This record gives sequence, structure tokens and C-alpha cells, in this order.
Amino acid sequence: MTDQNGTIESHPLQNAESTETFPPSPDFVGQANLSDPSVYWRAAEDPETYWAEQAEQLHWRKPFTEILDWTNPPFAKWFADGELNVAENCLDRHVAAGLGDRIAIHFEGEPGDSRSISYAELTHEVKRAANMLTSLGVAAGDRVAIYMPMIPETIIAMLAVARLGAAHSVVFGGFSAESLRARIDDAEAELVITADGGYRKGRVSALKPTVDDALALHGGGSTAQRVLVVQRTENDVVMEPGRDLWWHEEITAFDGEHTPQGFPAENPLFILYTSGTTGKPKGILHTSGGYLTQASTTHRNVFDLKPDTDVYWCTADIGWITGHSYVVYGPLANGATQVIYEGTPETPDWGRWWSIIQKYGVTIFYTAPTAIRACMKVGRQVPEQYDLSSIRLLGSVGEPINPEAWRWYHEVIGGGRAPIVDTWWQTETGALMISPLPGITALKPGSAQTPLPGISAAVLTEEGEPVKRGQGGLLVIQRPWPSMVRGIWGDPQRFIDTYWSKFGDQYFAGDGARLDEDGDIWLLGRVDDVMNVSGHRLSTAEIESALVEHHAVAESAVVGADDETTGQAVVAFVILKSQQTLLDPEDAEVELKKHVAAQIGAIARPRQVFIVNELPKTRSGKIMRRLLKDAAEGREVGDTTTLADTAVMQTISDRVRRERAAK
Ligand code: WT7
Repeated sequence: MTDQNGTIESHPLQNAESTETFPPSPDFVGQANLSDPSVYWRAAEDPETYWAEQAEQLHWRKPFTEILDWTNPPFAKWFADGELNVAENCLDRHVAAGLGDRIAIHFEGEPGDSRSISYAELTHEVKRAANMLTSLGVAAGDRVAIYMPMIPETIIAMLAVARLGAAHSVVFGGFSAESLRARIDDAEAELVITADGGYRKGRVSALKPTVDDALALHGGGSTAQRVLVVQRTENDVVMEPGRDLWWHEEITAFDGEHTPQGFPAENPLFILYTSGTTGKPKGILHTSGGYLTQASTTHRNVFDLKPDTDVYWCTADIGWITGHSYVVYGPLANGATQVIYEGTPETPDWGRWWSIIQKYGVTIFYTAPTAIRACMKVGRQVPEQYDLSSIRLLGSVGEPINPEAWRWYHEVIGGGRAPIVDTWWQTETGALMISPLPGITALKPGSAQTPLPGISAAVLTEEGEPVKRGQGGLLVIQRPWPSMVRGIWGDPQRFIDTYWSKFGDQYFAGDGARLDEDGDIWLLGRVDDVMNVSGHRLSTAEIESALVEHHAVAESAVVGADDETTGQAVVAFVILKSQQTLLDPEDAEVELKKHVAAQIGAIARPRQVFIVNELPKTRSGKIMRRLLKDAAEGREVGDTTTLADTAVMQTISDRVRRERAAK
């Protein structure tokens, strides 16, 4: 949140920054994977050797001899002459080590069905799926789009694609047909794996019809030739002959024999689309060896994982990076036992998550501040009805966790004893970057605190000078890291411009941060036109262009306004075309909310749409979103002297105030 002068304000939810710290208990330190702070300086002295040692814990079909190649920044290569198979690392090697009977996944369906799948069973299913995909023509170098609910087959599909050396592009099930189609075609995926539907909020939420719509858009002509459909909800779906196949029918032809082949460490593993500052999402590219190294190392160290005794649960959907790194690749590479849950936390009631923790004896729980705040609102009497004594470590991700939510999480869910790791990272970083280490760090509620061993982060002024303690600035990562983004799919120039043009070969994360007197890092939110709604990234530009695509809309401006539960919420200001007949202003709010949800997906639905006659613009015609944000948050509107028409903001803020008062 930079103001006009480029200075950084503190995060609004980060109210009073407390000085209270929570040092690790002697019991926790005694059993921790890492408890000696020397790990930080040893890694800092020689980060490449540190990462090479971590990489050696994986199974390499051809060992690497090179560590980092940074001769062509910003295009890094890690362990480039080594070869490995990512799926083998997540599956076969655990079975070969005699751990085949260990449960990999406790699956909990929303309706209450459940399935526990061992490493041997998961390996068998992935091998069969890999054979099935081979028969459909999937090979190394290809892309496969995955549009699925949170069910085991989603993980099986991802690992089968990875096993063949192909790359997956998982598209979150909440995205619209239009968004799905754009992602399929951008990656030139030839196959889409989907399901008939999934269970959400007690109902069947269909997915296959959205795939049908996506492929029919723009007169057809998508790159995708085949659709493989997992049967989950048994709702009626139309199967197009020659294009659509049922997974459960196809798979019967394939056995579980499949020898994994090694692929170069820099072979693409996946593309994951994320919103940027323009209307077009960015296809973030991740590769294999470095990514798996950092995902597994951080999962082991930050969550203090004991694979033989812990039951780990990360609530993220697989459609986001957290699901990739901390549901699929990190935990499975580490041989963890984990819970995955299909549905929403309030189904059938707000006790659902806590009942799952009690049922499986979850010991490590990783979720987002927005979910914690939603649970806080419902009240502690709900979790208090369940036995949560198995919990020994808690994690938070997605946005800064406000100290009030931190304390509630610590006391009510963590019984006052479980440390909380506040983990800062991004789709682009691939894995955790800034976080406490629970056996070493004295925790500060609201701060992600310290770059992990082997990572060097700094807070800089606009001019690129390190800020002094007590000051704010822009967060950068100073040296390449193994799980870093390797590029934006199909757009190397955008990659350079977005992340590497501000501070040379230091990575600019797009976040503001402050260093406190101890040198700990406090994240302050995005400094660009990117919103963070419930821990998900949304672009103002993308929603604005969806709005102006509506036939009745002349112009729009979108801001992320502070929201008690979701962190930020989408607030749109819209000018309608003059012909009243196009859309009655009375119905406009409802209609335009629906329109945005249909265009992009339900996550992008605005909390409010204000119909206005004018937008605040500078003399050069630039919309001043900062002023609209002031109005949307009910603040005194800031400096309007650079506006072409200073009265405009008065009219708008009066409107917003009237509506707030009416509610
Ligand atoms: C943006 C990345 C990383 C997985 C989830 C979101 C914000 C994320 C934290 C945190 C403060 C955080 C940042 C970042 N963010 N974690 N612990 N404290 N802010 O992934 O969609 O790539 O978004 O989320 O603003 O840039 P993403």
C-alpha cells in the first residue's frame, strides 16, 4: 500500500503491533527437526552448497554436478545436468524403502464418504494412470489441463502427468468457462482432465458442463482434443463421442507396471496461472529438480514434519500454488500422511474442520487467515466441542495474519501450546521463503519474520537502498532460489518487465514490507494493482475489463477495499452507457455482480458495485483508484488536488456513505 509519495503505510488489519513474543517451548525444541540457529549462518555462507545438500536428499536417476547456473539472469537453472522423475520421488521411492503400507492420503468427501490410500496403492494408481495417459498420446514436453474437485484422482492425475515428463496446468474449479478456455489455449493443452462434478456446500457442483462450454466458446477451435472425465457425483453429463472419455472405463485396460524415466531437472513440471496487473493472467512456469528440492525441504523444516507419526492437513485447494507445493509435492516427497477434504468448512456446519482434526488426529494444520477470521466470527464455542489436543503445529498463509486472529488461532485451535508459522511466499516463489522455524524462532504475532536458510530477502527504498530498521519499503529476493519461477509461459519479456526491471537482478515481489527494530520482516500487502481476496490474487484490470465487456457498461474502476473477513474485497465503480434502456440502474448492481462471476469465476464477484456518473481522473486521464479506495473504506478522501474535476470525488464519497449508512 504505497500512497502517492511512495511511502508505505502499515497494513490496516495489523492494528497494534505488539512486542509480545512466543519463544519455542523446551519440549518443542527438544524434538524439533531444526533447533540450532547455526543453520542460518551456515546456509548464508554458502547457499549453493546448502541447496545442493537438500537436493541430494531426493532420488536422482542421474546425479547433478552443477548447482546454480545464473549466467543468463533472470533465467536460472538449478541442478541442470541432473535427471530425476518427480513422481518416483513422491511414490516409488517410499514403497522401495518399505513404507508402502503407510497412508499417503486420508480423503474426506463432503457428504461424509472417506477413503484412506496407502503409498503402495497411490503408486499403483499413478502407474495405471500414466499408462492410460500414454495411450492418449501424452508424452514429455506436452501440457495437460486439470479442472477438478478436491479428490484423490486430482493428485493421481497430476502425478501421472509429471511421471511422463509432461507439464500440468491445474485450473481452480471455481473459474468460469471463459477463464478455463483462456488457460487451456495459452498453454496449448491437448487434453483436459475433469470430473462430472464435486460436492460443495451440500450440493453437487458440476464441472464437466463448464469444460463443454469452454471448448465451445469462440466457435470451438481449442487446442484441447480430448477430455477425460472422472466420475465423482454421477450428475448427468453429456459425453461427446470421439472427444470425451470416462476415466473409470479407460483405466480398466491398464495395469500397474510402469518404469519411471529420468527427466532433466529443468524439465517443466507445471504451469499455474495467476493474476497480474493487466487483464491477462500470467502462466507461471515451474520446473522439476529445484522446485521439488525447496518444496520438500521447507515442508520438512517449517512444519517440523515427522513422517512416521504426524498427520498433516493443508486446507488449500489444489487449484492454487499452496495445493501444488504443500498438498501434492512437498508432503508426498517427504512420505507424509495427510488429510484432504473435498468441501467447505461450514458443511454441514462450522464444526466440520474440527471434527476432521479429531477423527484423524491431525497434528499439523495449515490454513489461511481469512478462514481463521471466519471461524472467529462463528465463535470459539464451536471448536471447543471437539478434541483438538493432537494439534502440535499451526501454519498460516495467503496474507498477513492480524495479531487478533493469530491469538485466537494460537489459543483456541492450538491450545496455547502449538507454535504458529506465518509463511510468506507466492505462486512465483514456488515454495516458502520467509517464515519462522518453529524450533528456533521466538514468534511475533503478525510477522513472517525471517528468510529461511538459503534465502536472502531485503527491504529496499524506491531507489534500491536497504531501509533502516523501523522503516518500510519494497520486498526483494536478492539471490536466485531453487523453486523460483522460470518464466511466464510464452512471454519472456513480460517476465523480465514484471519482476526484474525495478532492481536489476534482484527479484521484486510486488509486496511492501517493514523491518522492525530486531530486523524482522512485516508484510504490508501488495504495492501494485493486485488485490488479495481470501488469500487469492485478483487483478483490478482483469475485473475492469470483464465489466466493460458488459453491453451496458461504459467505464469501470475496481479497487480492493479492506474487509473484516476476506482481507480485501472487490469494490467496483461503474459508469453505465447513457441509454437507460440497456440496464435499469436499480438492477445494475445485481446484474453486474453476476456478470463478473460468470466471466471470471465466483471468487471475483464484487462485494459492491456503485453506479456513478463520473470517475475521479487526473488531468492526463488516469483513474485515481487510491481515492476510490478511501471512499470504499469509508475514510476521508485523500488529496484531490490533482483531479481534473475535484467535485467528482465528493459526489462519489457521499454516495458510498449513504449506502453504508443504509446498511
Ligand atoms: C501474495 C502471493 C503463497 C500462497 C498463497 C498466495 C500475499 C502470501 C503471505 C503472508 C503476508 C502474504 C503476498 C504475496 N501473502 N502469504 N504469510 N503474509 N502476505 O499465493 O496468490 O501467489 O499470492 O500473497 O501479498 O505477494 P499468491
